[in-house]
Amino acid sequence: MNQPLSRWQRLWRWLKHPLWLGIPIGIFVLVLMGAGFQGVMVASNQNAFCFSCHLSMDTIVQEYKASPHYVSDGDVYATCADCHVPHPFIDKMKVKIAATADIYYMMTGKITKENFEEHRPELAQMVWDDMEADNSANCRHCHAGDNFLLSEQPQRARLNHVQMDKRGETCIDCHTGIAHKRIVIK
Ligand code: HEC
Ligand code: HEC
Ligand code: HEC
Ligand code: HEC
Repeated sequence: MNQPLSRWQRLWRWLKHPLWLGIPIGIFVLVLMGAGFQGVMVASNQNAFCFSCHLSMDTIVQEYKASPHYVSDGDVYATCADCHVPHPFIDKMKVKIAATADIYYMMTGKITKENFEEHRPELAQMVWDDMEADNSANCRHCHAGDNFLLSEQPQRARLNHVQMDKRGETCIDCHTGIAHKRIVIK
């Protein structure tokens, strides 16, 4: 019965997924050609682009939809890209290139829905390392100034936040699992 799919069958099954025809291929071709550069960057930052792979590939999207930054399909506090794509332009390019590598890994079957959980700790660690390295810059892009008033926070939050700079802590030190299943590495 259940014959394992060959690499080519898997590639084909993946390519014929309808979402593929529209958004991502077009975006990648445009990125590679360097055409309409700025516009492409904005378009690929929308959730639909990230969903096109992550919806069927793993459980990331479902978890995000149950998290506090998601309200409804038309209304979110933060998109995937808001948390994961760095703001400065050079960093954006770095992430685009890494995303192209992601395609390669998916085609060669390194990550599948079946083995996703095994790979999660290593993927989560990559994200944590990025956030440690830039002092959780993407979180701070929104949670700053009037959107991060210590005086308006509940005591437990305030007591932690007031000390974090002095203690050399950053958002992700305490807020892991904010958008996905919390991964614990021991
Ligand atoms: C073409 C398919 C595809 C698209 C589109 C895609 N991803 Fe991924 N993504 C993957 C695969 C496959 C992996 C696991 C690859 C690996 O690192 O081994 C991955 C891993 C990740 C990781 C964890 C590893 C890391 O690099 O930090 C994050 C975070 C991520 N994707 C976010 C996003 C966001 C945000 C978007 C939309 C801007 C997006 N992805 C669009 C296929 C895709
Ligand atoms: C695009 C803007 C944006 C980004 C990026 C963002 N947030 Fe939020 N976040 C919000 C908004 C809006 C709310 C809801 C209003 C509020 O609680 O301030 C929220 C709520 C929260 C809450 C309260 C959750 C609850 O249970 O109600 C926490 C904790 C939080 N964010 C942490 C983070 C962390 C950590 C990051 C980075 C990994 C991050 N946020 C990135 C906009 C953002
Ligand atoms: C030392 C740990 C720690 C650090 C570092 C930290 N937080 Fe928190 N944060 C907490 C705790 C504890 C709460 C209380 C809610 C809870 O129990 O999860 C909280 C609550 C919040 C809330 C909800 C506040 C409300 O009004 O209810 C937001 C938003 C938030 N944190 C964002 C951030 C952001 C953004 C950063 C980085 C700038 C950050 N936190 C850094 C521990 C921390
Ligand atoms: C509020 C910020 C936030 C949003 C929104 C968000 N993520 Fe994440 N993501 C994180 C953090 C933080 C981690 C690091 C692991 C952890 O603490 O959960 C992470 C980890 C990941 C991983 C690595 C696997 C894992 O479970 O850790 C992937 C893949 C990923 N995110 C993709 C996405 C995609 C795709 C979306 C949109 C559907 C998205 N993220 C939305 C903050 C966010």
